[in-house]
Amino acid sequence: MTTQIDSLEEYKKAYQESVDNPEDFWKKQGETFVWKKPFDQTLQWNFEEPNVKWYINGKLNITENCLDRHIEKRGDQTAILWEPNDPSAPIQKYSYRELLSAVNKCANGLKERGIKKGDRVVFYMPMVPELAIGVLACARIGAIHSVVFAGFSAQALADRVDDAQAKMIICSDYNHRGSKNIPVKEVVDDAMDKSCNSVETVLVHKNTHGEINWSSEVDFWWHELIDHQSSKCEAEEMDSEDILFILYTSGSTGKPKGVVHTCGGYMVYTCYSFRNVFQYKEGDVYWCTADIGWITGHSYIVYGPLLAGATTMMFEGVPTYPDAGRFWEVCEKHKVNQFYTAPTAIRALMAKGDQWPAKYDLSSIKVLGSVGEPINEEAWNWYNDHIGKGNAPIVDTWWQTETGGILITPLPGITDTKPTYASYPMPGVQPVLVDADGNIKEENDVEGLLCIKFPWPSIIRTTYGDHERCKNVYFSTFKGMYFTGDGARRDKEGRLRVIGRVDDVINVSGHRMGTAEVENAINEHPSVVESAVVGYPHDIKGQGIYAYVISQNKELDDTFRKEILAMVTKEIGPIAKPDKIQFVSGLPKTRSGKIMRRILRKIASKDGNNLGDISTLLNPDVVSEILNGALV
Ligand code: WT7
Repeated sequence: MTTQIDSLEEYKKAYQESVDNPEDFWKKQGETFVWKKPFDQTLQWNFEEPNVKWYINGKLNITENCLDRHIEKRGDQTAILWEPNDPSAPIQKYSYRELLSAVNKCANGLKERGIKKGDRVVFYMPMVPELAIGVLACARIGAIHSVVFAGFSAQALADRVDDAQAKMIICSDYNHRGSKNIPVKEVVDDAMDKSCNSVETVLVHKNTHGEINWSSEVDFWWHELIDHQSSKCEAEEMDSEDILFILYTSGSTGKPKGVVHTCGGYMVYTCYSFRNVFQYKEGDVYWCTADIGWITGHSYIVYGPLLAGATTMMFEGVPTYPDAGRFWEVCEKHKVNQFYTAPTAIRALMAKGDQWPAKYDLSSIKVLGSVGEPINEEAWNWYNDHIGKGNAPIVDTWWQTETGGILITPLPGITDTKPTYASYPMPGVQPVLVDADGNIKEENDVEGLLCIKFPWPSIIRTTYGDHERCKNVYFSTFKGMYFTGDGARRDKEGRLRVIGRVDDVINVSGHRMGTAEVENAINEHPSVVESAVVGYPHDIKGQGIYAYVISQNKELDDTFRKEILAMVTKEIGPIAKPDKIQFVSGLPKTRSGKIMRRILRKIASKDGNNLGDISTLLNPDVVSEILNGALV
């Protein structure tokens, strides 16, 4: 097992060692895993191409480390504890032994359908155990998984399937979500009608009794293909730098990109960070409420916890079903020890009132985690007072899809916490704040752009099929550094607070979105001439979506508004629907024709009286019109 730090002295020592001698530091952590063939060098890197390799020439299979290796010591311990959407439905438990055989059966089923090392398999599934099983089955045989959040539209799914050239889609028939039963297979059918020409098999897990359409050439039932398979399956030998998975995420331009993570470094870093950030102890029950469709679910529901031999809970439902006490009821029911959720959920539940958590015994909770967006002070305090009762340190964990694991965070009970501060870098992580020219600001009590100047094991390797894009987005803004796209401040004592994105990416309820993506969707409407989308502060969602739309021939009424929302839902999914749409006759532009989003952001954020000098605009007159019509 990787090291678990348990005092401030150890943290300081580990941090110092990881900076003075990173290779030795990570070599030692790497050596705690099961390798089919040991690595012969720890790190090779340059941030110019970029080309980063960890655990060179090591051969391994991550599932042997997640599963096989635990059988002797904890074969009967619960690995996955599944809590259904419907609180009266039975829970499911998979011990490490049971999970291993379920994964092997699935792996053999995938092989029967011709899936082999390097093939891509897309998942479009709700939070059922079969999602985790399927993901691990891919890893078992060296297939590359790409999980698509099941709230995305058929078009968004098809885009991802096409980009990955996936050979298989694994989905469910329907998805229970609160009181709704969502037709998942129908969305996959729709995506298949649009494109997805690379797909040979759609594997359908039966989750409900709903009717679905069936295409006899490509559709297969999970239970028919998998249940009768052998529970033994040799783990494929993978190189440390073979791809483990692709996960699509939004950027400031163009279509979502496929972030690539590889086997060796990702394994070491997710295990190391899980054990330290959550201070998981033998026998604890750990619950992360994220969806496996996002990186948080990959690293801290599936891989990190299983690598560490933990009991990890998977929750099928939503925080407010059947009522706003559900999270706390589940914490009491399963005596949850570490609870990890997003600020947007905390704010939504806080708004429902203190009586909900007060009804339940939350005394098992030792650590509270927050992830996905900046947590405001009010939410931090409520979480601390009403959930942790002042006894459970809050770890405000900053990281990204691209970082693979948590990079900046307090360590509970070890380093101090301060509301809204992600605070301290993990050992092995070297964050810096830079100015617009890339000069590093060494002093405390400053703001700057957040970069990381040295590689850590789970850093993004490439963007799938387009290495140039990876280089341009992350490694070209500032030479020799990984640029996060976030702005941050460092306080007088050296703690870091991540303020938010400095690019055209917005964060809505912890979901990352490119404003350009939303604009492209809106512009698909035939009556839209042009649009501009910005984020604005939103009490629950963190950021809301504000769209400025120019139309020529259409009456600016509620029907049109609804058509625009429907267009966005069709192109991306309901999570990208604008909260506000303002119809305008023009957009403020520079003389070179660029939209001045800064102005639009200010207007949407009720800061329209403070626009500064707008006289250099091509069309300054339009600004007062927009201000007068602003929906604030
Ligand atoms: C962006 C990454 C990390 C997994 C889930 C989101 C924002 C994330 C924090 C935090 C302030 C945060 C950043 C980052 N973010 N965590 N603790 N404090 N901001 O992953 O979708 O890749 O989004 O989320 O802006 O760049 P993601």
